[in-house]
Amino acid sequence: MSRTPVIAGNWKMNLTSESSVALAQGVANYQGQPTSRKCCVFPALVHLSAVAEAVAGSAVSLGAQDCHEADGGAFTGEISAAMLKDVGVEVVLSGHSERRHIFCEDDSRVAAKSAAILEAGLDLMLCVGETLGEREAGNTFQVLDRQLGVLSDFGAFVERISVAYEPVWAIGTGQSATPEIAQNAHAHCRAVVEGILGGEAAASMPLLYGGSVNSSNAEELLAQEDVDGALVGGASLDIENFGPILDAVPNV
Ligand code: PGA
Repeated sequence: MSRTPVIAGNWKMNLTSESSVALAQGVANYQGQPTSRKCCVFPALVHLSAVAEAVAGSAVSLGAQDCHEADGGAFTGEISAAMLKDVGVEVVLSGHSERRHIFCEDDSRVAAKSAAILEAGLDLMLCVGETLGEREAGNTFQVLDRQLGVLSDFGAFVERISVAYEPVWAIGTGQSATPEIAQNAHAHCRAVVEGILGGEAAASMPLLYGGSVNSSNAEELLAQEDVDGALVGGASLDIENFGPILDAVPNV
């Protein structure tokens, strides 16, 4: 089954309102109206409305980096999935390694957030990946199995789920996984998805690679059979770097 490649830019806690809008417009122009690839950007929460306006009518989807799992209530500083939907968000990250490791979000929290995202009618991009210690201890697959386990409750939402494999040791380090390591982990993730949600779901679910993707390594990573896209952090912050990553997927 063919899967449409997805190139996503995670802007993290960077940029101003003005530079977010300018970058979003640059991405929208670069993306054009292709049928062969999807593109989404994940600005900071406070810039979502401005970026929503900048990408309106374009082939760029608006994503959010995080949300709270509750529908609403006394959660000072938090944002619900319905609020994100209200400002035009289509897809939300859950389980990003920075949320897991800096903000101590465990698998049950990731599961609760993922459920809230899907139940609000939004797409879920579930992030998984092992730390260097876990890889060196030979536990990579065990970690991926555990983190992907949250998918077991989401059989009804398969078409709205993508997975980003992001080895923690590769994120923001400049040391990307080799294409072989990425393919190996992706093939494993696909097999796990098949075990949880069935063969059709596994064949159609986009699996993105993330972790120091740049304009030099994107093409080789994206050429791997089970690598269906890229979740890009640092190199997504300007169009000079992000444009060539989009071009790693032919625009037809
Ligand atoms: P990076 O970040 O491309 O800067 O390594 C990727 C991510 O955290 O999604």
